Amino acid sequence: MQLLATALLLCLGICTAAAHDDNGLARTPQMGWNTWNKFGCGISEETVLSAARALVSSGLRDFGYEYVIIDDCWQAPSRDPQTQSPRADPTRFPRGIKAVADEVHELGLKVGIYSDAGKFTCGRRFGSLDFEEIDANTYASWEIDYLKYDNCYNEGRAGYDLISFERFARMSRALNATGRPILYSLCNWGEDGPWNWATTIANSWRISGDITDKFDRYDDRCPCTSAIDCKLPGFHCAVTRIIDYSAPLGQKAGPGRWNDLDMLEIGNGGMSYDEYVVHFSIWALVKSPLVLGNDVTKMTSETLSIITNDAIIAVNQDPVGSPAVRLWREPQEAGGTVQLWAGPLANGATIIALLNTSPISQIVTIDLEKDVFMDSDVAQQKAAYRLFDLWQRADESNLVSRWGKDVGVFQSQVPSIYVDAHQIKVWKAVPADAALAVKEQYRLH
Ligand code: GLA
Repeated sequence: MQLLATALLLCLGICTAAAHDDNGLARTPQMGWNTWNKFGCGISEETVLSAARALVSSGLRDFGYEYVIIDDCWQAPSRDPQTQSPRADPTRFPRGIKAVADEVHELGLKVGIYSDAGKFTCGRRFGSLDFEEIDANTYASWEIDYLKYDNCYNEGRAGYDLISFERFARMSRALNATGRPILYSLCNWGEDGPWNWATTIANSWRISGDITDKFDRYDDRCPCTSAIDCKLPGFHCAVTRIIDYSAPLGQKAGPGRWNDLDMLEIGNGGMSYDEYVVHFSIWALVKSPLVLGNDVTKMTSETLSIITNDAIIAVNQDPVGSPAVRLWREPQEAGGTVQLWAGPLANGATIIALLNTSPISQIVTIDLEKDVFMDSDVAQQKAAYRLFDLWQRADESNLVSRWGKDVGVFQSQVPSIYVDAHQIKVWKAVPADAALAVKEQYRLH
């Protein structure tokens, strides 16, 4: 009897904790669009539905952007006084959230909503702390598919891993108990190291304070230099800062559980083409969720060309689900750094990226043997690789674009690569003896 009781207790602890990791969702990083970066609190039913329609008409849905996420400020000034259920702002969402969700679903998309593991949300609407069950049940009744769950006004229930874990696990359990698959996107800005404890309760977790639409501007409001032991995640975090945060954390992510580098700023106007390409590439390589944050109803062709690079999207959605890691990072006299990143892809391919965050161009030689394949066996270290440049489109042999441009075969080193200021080069490397056979499969007919 006592044995049974112990087994039951163990199962209660482990079985519930493991449930979210195994909720079947986000086997590859989630993709979608969110209201916050562009519209902040200025949202309504029209903002959400016009974006959803644009995801379809622009073709973005077919590239994988499927979640339409309503961020903060959808809430009424208070909960329903009788039932305590959450309710939507009657002016901005006069038909309620369910009606919006229905229309989003009819477009072949999924719908996400936002709340907060605190007394209030960051925009001072009511939060979900101590209302987890009633809120999760309400979201399920609205047919919500995704919850972004924030960390403001947490009543001091943070500062230690276990306290944060328990506060966020409560919503995880409540979502699981609804029986509806709801992707759980935890947003505590990296406080208390969620990569160490959120893996069993959430599908993704933010690793930093809020992104800003700037490449490398230093801002004291985002004071930490590393995500590890960061006591004040803050906000106004530039892209290069978040890239530094993400570099050591890849080892903790995998199918169903991802490091979230925050929503994309591509198309919001604060960065150059090359800088947005860096932003999109690194987010894709480290397997961050790719959640657009621009006005998708008004996009330039340049913006669209970046966020629909299917070669880069395929890296993010690669079934192996193994984030690229930073192999080295060298400070430059002119400021900034040169960085080498690499990681495994399906079918024995490898992704390699050379990033130059310095303000001047650089010429760099990549050591395949000693750097990229450092942990591989000798045969792989010495092998020849065919490289495909994923920011140059289909090559002259008429391959589908997601192979990028064939730039030749290299063994041991890739010499003298020119990489401009604030630019990234991204290659898919395929063992040369296999590359031509694999290429054949992708030849257009
Ligand atoms: C926090 C989050 C943001 C956004 C706002 C909404 O700052 O980190 O992503 O959701 O709250 O108020």
